[in-house]
Amino acid sequence: MAKTEFDNQAFRQALGSFTTGVTIITATAPDGTPVGLTANSFNSVSLDPPMVLWSLAKTSLSVDAFNKTEHWNVHVLSQHQQDLSNKFAAKGKDKFKDINLEDGISSAPLIKDCSARFQCRNMVTHDGGDHLIFIGEVLGFDQQPLPPLVFQQGQYAMTARKPWEDVNLSSEPAAPQCSYNEDLLGYLLGRAHFQMLYRMRKVLDQQALEDSHFFALSVMNIQPKQTLEQLNTHLDYTGHSLSEEDIDFLESQALISKIDNDSYQLTDSGRVTSLHHIAQAKAIEEELIEELGAGDVMALKLMLKRLIHKTDPGLPDLWSTQEQQ
Ligand SMILES: Cc1cc2nc3c(=O)[nH]c(=O)nc-3n(C[C@H](O)[C@H](O)[C@H](O)COP(=O)(O)O)c2cc1C
Repeated sequence: MAKTEFDNQAFRQALGSFTTGVTIITATAPDGTPVGLTANSFNSVSLDPPMVLWSLAKTSLSVDAFNKTEHWNVHVLSQHQQDLSNKFAAKGKDKFKDINLEDGISSAPLIKDCSARFQCRNMVTHDGGDHLIFIGEVLGFDQQPLPPLVFQQGQYAMTARKPWEDVNLSSEPAAPQCSYNEDLLGYLLGRAHFQMLYRMRKVLDQQALEDSHFFALSVMNIQPKQTLEQLNTHLDYTGHSLSEEDIDFLESQALISKIDNDSYQLTDSGRVTSLHHIAQAKAIEEELIEELGAGDVMALKLMLKRLIHKTDPGLPDLWSTQEQQ
């Protein structure tokens, strides 16, 4: 049988389907130089005795150091350590500049603020084609509740936990002729928005504030000096708008005051009210983090930012400092 041509690129791509975490493996060379590299070949081997493994390309600049060292440390990176991963994935000597280290069991560098760390003693090194496979005994480990960084198909990714069963919002299956169903993205976004702001709306009701008033106070909190026209430019995409009467109402409540012919700003009381709204919004978010987990909320925010970016109809940049006065 003729040997079929082996497609290296397709092989790499197929391996990329196996989603992994991202680690940095560190050691100290015999001359005392710290070495380290980003690796996703890390895996568990045995629970008793506790053993882990990883593999190192023979082309790595640190092959000699890892071959000669007795100890190495594995750092499972968290979502906020992507820059660190890039730093240790680049060939070079200055990888440890400005890195927060602490003392560990051995002289191998121990990096702070990771999802998990395993301090190991090398037990055996195997030849593995163009890689060397290091198997180590875990002498010590620690863990922090930081969501891990993920690598998939050659890209960084983040985890979102999948519920055991699909979440159905309605107990009834959707009628086949019904063009709306609970899987419609617009419906899900809208419902999530209104449900999340439900408690916020109760606070606004107590203060006799309508949504448009709330939006106006929020805009002025970010960009203090606003004309009615500017406010409405920021509010346009919400489907709400402010009238002269709304402005009069906010003035009558001493929440905003006129600063020149046609510009307004928050009063002290308006600022306190707005800060109260922000505190309420943060409290709602904290509760959601409790329910969903910090990793899922982070993943959700990232997806929403991408969606907002893709669907932006060309709004003025509310957060831009240029417009602030
Ligand atoms: C997500 C990711 C995973 C990687 N996994 C490994 C790995 O398991 N083994 C390896 O030798 N290189 C791996 N690399 C590549 C090394 O980090 C890279 O070649 C680095 O430059 C090696 O540095 P050095 O030559 O200074 O040791 C990975 C890179 C990335 C971005």
